[in-house]
Amino acid sequence: MGSIKAIITGVAGYVPDEILTNKDMEKLVETSDEWIQSRTGIKQRHIERDPDKATSDLVVGAINKLVEKTGLDVLEIDMIIVATITGDHTFPDTANIVASKIGAKNAFGYDINAACSGFIFSLVTASKFIETGTYKKILVAGADQMSSILDYEDRTTCILFGDGGGVVLLEPNQEPDGGGIHDAVLRGDGEGAAYLHMKAGGSKKPTTVETVMAREHFVYQEGRVVFKAAIKGMSESISTLLEKNNLDIADIDYLIPHQANKRILYGVADYIGFPREKVLINIENYGNTTAGTIPLCLSDFEGNFKKGDKLIITAFGGGFTWGAVLVEWAY
Ligand code: COA
Repeated sequence: MGSIKAIITGVAGYVPDEILTNKDMEKLVETSDEWIQSRTGIKQRHIERDPDKATSDLVVGAINKLVEKTGLDVLEIDMIIVATITGDHTFPDTANIVASKIGAKNAFGYDINAACSGFIFSLVTASKFIETGTYKKILVAGADQMSSILDYEDRTTCILFGDGGGVVLLEPNQEPDGGGIHDAVLRGDGEGAAYLHMKAGGSKKPTTVETVMAREHFVYQEGRVVFKAAIKGMSESISTLLEKNNLDIADIDYLIPHQANKRILYGVADYIGFPREKVLINIENYGNTTAGTIPLCLSDFEGNFKKGDKLIITAFGGGFTWGAVLVEWAY
């Protein structure tokens, strides 16, 4: 590992104003507030209703808040990575649209599609550009406008997801012990694609009238398979990460998991013997915002963190993709 480490120097989250509560979901599909809360922990989710708004607007909303909080000069941004599966377009990427919208004239960027693991994959990718001294200010965003790919007639998926996202600013550390993105375990398994995907719209099955009529442009999921794989994947990657770094669970101040389902998050904690009270959870307010959950969670709990705190960020998602990242908080 080089001597330069990438540190997170700011974080902000953004969700659209409109809220869909579980009671609202009861009007759309045959479900109940009791079922949703007891099976997932979700109470509400935010939804973008404005037809002119897209995922880039979620990212811009978060960046505007970050700029306000940190005084960041957008002209100093070198690079923007956007983790998303709901980019504004199939192509081009959303990152460069974001750069234009915020006036980051000196930045370039690209998107990373790793579903719910997109933010951690992007964070690690960006940290390498910092560690090598290539760039000094990188925005790493995770955001998804999930309402654009949900079937509001399918009760097994539509109750789970919401719209939202967040962004962190990555910079080189200025002090020898200034914390940073220390290490990561990242994994993938393409066999998992069968259980969580969109059936049509890609090169394998391009969009036709028939695919639209068959409702094949929405999230398809086999929930039970994903549930088990998520607990196993996140638990194993955390254990491997701890072992690689000679750390025990007691050395970790907080676990920041991708917010998929409260039962999955407690399942991971129990599997590895991590105290439940140190697992940061905000799924009740947003549902699963896919690549957005982790920066949203970091933003909501930013006030809890102090310099030197050791965090493990973990995720599991479509692909399958999963992993865990060891972060020492820097402010
Ligand atoms: N409201 C009421 N009942 C529902 C329902 C809903 N919204 N969704 C499913 N059900 C029903 C099912 O039809 C099933 O009925 P049946 O027993 O008569 O067939 C019953 O509830 C149990 O379904 P099951 O799928 O076994 O429930 P579950 O406890 O596994 O919970 C999920 C379903 C989707 C919440 C859960 O599997 C899950 O969270 N999976 C992972 C999802 C995820 O996080 N994915 C994102 C990527 S990480």
